[in-house]
Amino acid sequence: MLSRRSFLAAGFTTGLPSLVPSADFGEPFTLGVASGDPDPGGFVLWTRLAPDPLAEDGFGGMPQEPVPVQWQVLADPAGRTVVRSGTELAVRDWAHSVHVTVTGLRPGRPYWYRFKAGPYVSPTGRTLTAPAPGTIGRPLRMAVCSCANYQHGYFTAYAAIAAEQPDLVLNLGDYIYEQGSDHLLGPGGNVRDHGGPEAVTLADYRRRHALYKTDPDLRAAHAAAPWVAVMDDHEVVNNWTNLIPAERRQAAFRAYYEHLPLRPAARPGGTAVQLYRRLRWGGLATLHVLDTRQYRDPHLCGAGFNDCPAPDGPSRTMLGLDQEQWLLDGFHRSRARWDLVGQQVFFGQRDRDPGPGRLVRQDAWDGYTAARMRVSEGWVEAGARNVAVLTGDVHAHWAGDLVLDYDDPAARPIGAEFAVTSITTGGDGTDVDPVTDPLPAVNPRLKLHLRHRGYLMLEITPSTLTAAFKIVRYVSRPGATAETAATVRLHDRVPGLGAATA
Ligand SMILES: [Fe+2]
Repeated sequence: MLSRRSFLAAGFTTGLPSLVPSADFGEPFTLGVASGDPDPGGFVLWTRLAPDPLAEDGFGGMPQEPVPVQWQVLADPAGRTVVRSGTELAVRDWAHSVHVTVTGLRPGRPYWYRFKAGPYVSPTGRTLTAPAPGTIGRPLRMAVCSCANYQHGYFTAYAAIAAEQPDLVLNLGDYIYEQGSDHLLGPGGNVRDHGGPEAVTLADYRRRHALYKTDPDLRAAHAAAPWVAVMDDHEVVNNWTNLIPAERRQAAFRAYYEHLPLRPAARPGGTAVQLYRRLRWGGLATLHVLDTRQYRDPHLCGAGFNDCPAPDGPSRTMLGLDQEQWLLDGFHRSRARWDLVGQQVFFGQRDRDPGPGRLVRQDAWDGYTAARMRVSEGWVEAGARNVAVLTGDVHAHWAGDLVLDYDDPAARPIGAEFAVTSITTGGDGTDVDPVTDPLPAVNPRLKLHLRHRGYLMLEITPSTLTAAFKIVRYVSRPGATAETAATVRLHDRVPGLGAATA
């Protein structure tokens, strides 16, 4: 426990009216600190008080009462200059999580932050503000990640992301997995244990999120940079569509919000959560973050790879009408050098049938081809200068060209897709995969495929977008080093990868 003097030294006040005697809870910052969704004037700061993170009732060992949490934004990592400060009330209804919307800061620079609750001071996190509107400053260094199954391995790739000290971390979902301890990763079994059955209730989802944040590598990745996070399916249940019971969706959405640095607009109401949104990085990049789960039409033929005989009607939707219109409007209004579309499921065609048939994954955009065409034509008609789609979900690295007509070998690229591999899901990677290795031969638009765990590191300048495909060679034990297995570069006003693939 810190002495009165040590938290005075940290610059926090002592005169704050405390509604709870501090003796009523122990060290509460077990889940770390986080920041997210930066704009030119600020960002969101997050923490959650949980002295007993895995407490059975999902409340993290906190008392019933609200607890005031002081926060500070610092101009330097040592905390010599406090530039903003305030107090938020952490309440039991939201599992004593805290979301602070900070405004009025200077654009395009790093800041640091910390919290205090009772006598306890949190670790210090690093974050950034976005550049001023229209300006192009330093290159943007953005890490992209998805799919971190705790049972499948160690979060070594998160530690590597933390070490990169990126400007942004884009998390494309499967941040947690809902599966129970009995859900085994094939031969060799699980590396770690979820410690309970499949998450269904609010208490289950809260405990699962808390378990993930007990991992020091995940906490380090949050503390290193602001995150832009969006969910995929496993934050609720495998391959969910809006047919999943409302009560379960509500529980999963609420726990997701409680554990991520999301803006108040993303606070779930009823059975809906607003996660699609747009972030601008000056005049350099606009990031359109999509939600491909909540508003989609049901699968026509299940979620897996199959040759669906049912016709994909022209009105079927992946994004829902509102989000689709919002995206197309965004392409029209964007003045950025780079339009980045962060989303969950594979966008370009991936056909497993070497013959004339089409054996495609129905859960991905291949199962929603009319919607894919509307979105693709939308950015072409809008005259978007450079488009790159960033994708999660597939547990392997991929890079490919996007076209309007995948059956036309002469079709010119209209953009590129980079799909990021998993942090751990699938366990240790391989050099060969007999199922996916033939795909580039069948789909000449697919240029690069790697089967190890890892993340993507993008460096974006006005003239180039360079994607470093990072891999770790094992996750079944800690300590792998992150290697750059391939590098791909896009050039301003040259859609697609061309011959650029390394
Ligand atoms: Fe996944």
